Order: sequence, then C-alpha cells, then structure tokens
Amino acid sequence: AIKAAIFDLDGVLVDTAHYHYLAWRRVAERLDIPFTEADNERLKGVSRSQSLEYVLQKGKESMHADEKREWAARKNAWYLEYLSALNESHLLPGARAYVAWLKKAGVRIGLGTSSKNAGVILERLRIQDWFDAAVDGSMVAQTKPDPEVFLKCAHLLHVRPECCLVLEDSTAGIQAAKNAGMKCIGIGDKHVLTEADRVVSGLQELLPSKEASP
Ligand code: BG6
Ligand code: MG
Repeated sequence: AIKAAIFDLDGVLVDTAHYHYLAWRRVAERLDIPFTEADNERLKGVSRSQSLEYVLQKGKESMHADEKREWAARKNAWYLEYLSALNESHLLPGARAYVAWLKKAGVRIGLGTSSKNAGVILERLRIQDWFDAAVDGSMVAQTKPDPEVFLKCAHLLHVRPECCLVLEDSTAGIQAAKNAGMKCIGIGDKHVLTEADRVVSGLQELLPSKEASP
C-alpha cells in the first residue's frame, strides 16, 4: 500500500516549467544554439549545471568552467526574473485538493525536486507546511535520473521506497522514481512519459471523485 506521496515541484505543483524553458531558450539563443520544446524535455527535472551541459552538447560547444558558471548564473537570473510575479495562483489545478485528500487518508507528503530555488518558491506559494519532508537540489550530489533525491526523501519520511508514490512531469524524474523502486504517476503527455506506471494530464484527474483510494 502507498504510505507516502513524493511530489516533484516544477511542472507538478507549480507552473514554473515554462519559465525554466524560456530561460534556457534565452541562453541557447545568445549562444546561437538551436533549442526546441523537444530539446527542453531532456532538461526537465535535471540540475541547472547538467541542463547547461545538454544545451552546450546540442550546439557542440565547449566552454571553460568559469564561463559555464556565468551562463548558469545568467540563466538563473532570467528565471528569477520570470518568477518575480509568482503567487498562489500559479499552483497547478488539483494540487491543493489532491494533497489535502492524501493527508486526510493518512499518506505522508514529501517533496523531491532538483531545484535550488525550491525554498523561495514554497514560500511564495505559502505551501511549506504541506510537506512532512522536503529534499531539494542543494541536498543531493546526483541529479535525476539518479534516485538519490527520492531515496533521501523516503528515508526522511520513514517510508520504504516500495510504499512511495512519485508524481513527476519529467522523463528524468520518472526514471529516478523507477530507479528508486517507487511507483510513479507521470503528469503530462502519455506519448512522452512512457516509463511511468500511469500518466494523467494533471493532478485534478487524481481527485477522489474519479478514484477510490491513493
Ligand atoms: C527542476 C526543473 O525542477 O529543477 C529543471 O525541472 C531545473 O528544469 C532544475 O533545471 C534545477 O532548478 P534550479 O531552480 O536549481 O535551477
Ligand atoms: Mg518537474
């Protein structure tokens, strides 16, 4: 039985995935590297530095470590600029109701995100108190698809991996959940998120009117 639900943040609970995309596209444009929404799928769920590696690979571009740090910082500054208007209205449909329903059913709630901006985002959305445990990009050495972030969260929740359900919008995140030995529901397009146990278009589809138990 499922005892814990571990949520990814960007693109699952909050509508920030598009801002990440816009910021990376801006980086790619400046570097004269072609960058499409399909390229962006590979970046979802992946750390900032690893995402930059993908962009550079796409453009067959090599760069010194200092320069990489500068571009990563620039990307984050643009991203934070897009985030400046973030508020509770950016919570994705069904997020609040689904988490409330899980809590009522006694399911523990975790956060498992690659983002180092998670603290700011949770604060803006006023949802810090939703989580029994939160693991973000500053607390792990390996990025998704490595299972570290989810295993760490399960450990903090005192729930065995096989009793955890992960909610993810990214291919890398779904692989991370499977690598952790967890169940995984993909949020998005079932033709893209083929490795998930099940795919829904949004958390609202998981609400109890349509589903009997977690
Ligand atoms: C993930 C996003 O949640 O966090 C990625 O899906 C992002 O797009 C990653 O690169 C790292 O985020 P940040 O906020 O630390 O740059
Ligand atoms: Mg995500």
